Amino acid sequence: MTDAKTPFISDVKTLRDRARQHLGSGAVTSTYTADVDKTIAILQGVLATEIVCVLRYTMHSIAATGISSESVKEEFAQHAKEEQEHMNAVAERINQLGGKPNFSPEGLSTRSASQYVEGENLVDMIRENLIAERIAIDHYRELIRYFGDKDPGTRVMLEGILVVEEEHANDMHDLLVAHEGRPMLNR
Ligand SMILES: [Fe+2]
Ligand SMILES: [Fe+2]
Repeated sequence: MTDAKTPFISDVKTLRDRARQHLGSGAVTSTYTADVDKTIAILQGVLATEIVCVLRYTMHSIAATGISSESVKEEFAQHAKEEQEHMNAVAERINQLGGKPNFSPEGLSTRSASQYVEGENLVDMIRENLIAERIAIDHYRELIRYFGDKDPGTRVMLEGILVVEEEHANDMHDLLVAHEGRPMLNR
């Protein structure tokens, strides 16, 4: 509902006056309606998830062996690079919200949604990456719904990341089909 007291869009004077208050809060202004501490806690989990993905893909890109492993290694390395971009974006967002991004190796795997699994062979590696991507996709989709219009900045960032994770999952699925001759996970 809009009325004279609570207009749908604030007038310029109100916007200007409001922006001058609480400068210490940086990007977090009075119209931020999410719980900022909770947002930071959630994003620390997302950060850990992305760090684990960087580590897993990097390890796989180096350790993968076997026939036709070269192109797979390249794919793993490309994904590791993109996971690192996600990691940086999430850490930047935590910082914007006034938090301190947690890069500590202590407890990293418990903070992360996805797991660090080395895999015994090339197909194992591909399968583990597909599983990790599917975990991330489910998790981020839920978070996008949670943030809704309470925190559009965080939501839009996660939407961008989600699209890339979906591409990653598709890449891993295609590799699995190529190397196994059939998809391993039910649709
Ligand atoms: Fe990612
Ligand atoms: Fe990914």
